[in-house]
Amino acid sequence: MSTPLFPAHLLPPPPPSLAADLLIRSLERDDHLHGHMQVLNVLSPTPDITPDAYHAIFDDMARRPETYYTIVILSVPTSQILATSTLLLERKHLRSGGLVGHIEDVAVSSLAQGRGLGKLLITTLTGLAEGLGCYKVILDCARDNVGFYEKCGFWEKEVEMVQYF
Ligand code: ACO
Repeated sequence: MSTPLFPAHLLPPPPPSLAADLLIRSLERDDHLHGHMQVLNVLSPTPDITPDAYHAIFDDMARRPETYYTIVILSVPTSQILATSTLLLERKHLRSGGLVGHIEDVAVSSLAQGRGLGKLLITTLTGLAEGLGCYKVILDCARDNVGFYEKCGFWEKEVEMVQYF
């Protein structure tokens, strides 16, 4: 078995309604073989990278324990990843050293959109964040996706600002 990014027992139990042909699990070191990069293409053009480069990114994340929690939803019969997202933990001095969860890179393969997988990613990551002790979970998104996140229990607060280098 390929190495998981984080232990499986941290994930909240899957919903009883989860289809038998779907599996929610941690990202694994060899998930380049299961279409992880192709799914990320729906977010922005993601050129394929070599297996060595993929492993280097995974290893860099794994060297920062209790920080990166990337999950995938896999089609069991095909072993293809249909959806993925990452929870990133931030330790604060505020709130007596409270933890904030950041949800990043939410992506559902274009063929699998509209089947509840996006919502399943978000409920899994918010459950994970709560279980890990976060006092809140935040994310940035395009105006077009506000309705989706509202359906997942989020509400609008403040604005995102950015500088690119
Ligand atoms: N606006 C409003 N409502 C929406 C939207 C939207 N853009 N997308 C889905 N919904 C609704 C659905 O109709 C559904 O409603 P229902 O519960 O009443 O039936 C509910 O939200 C859940 O929809 P899902 O089927 O779970 O959505 P899906 O699996 O298609 O995932 C997602 C949504 C993640 C936006 C997907 O379309 C996608 O990957 N898009 C391209 C990449 C992207 O924009 N990712 C988000 C980036 S923001 C970030 O990463 C923090």
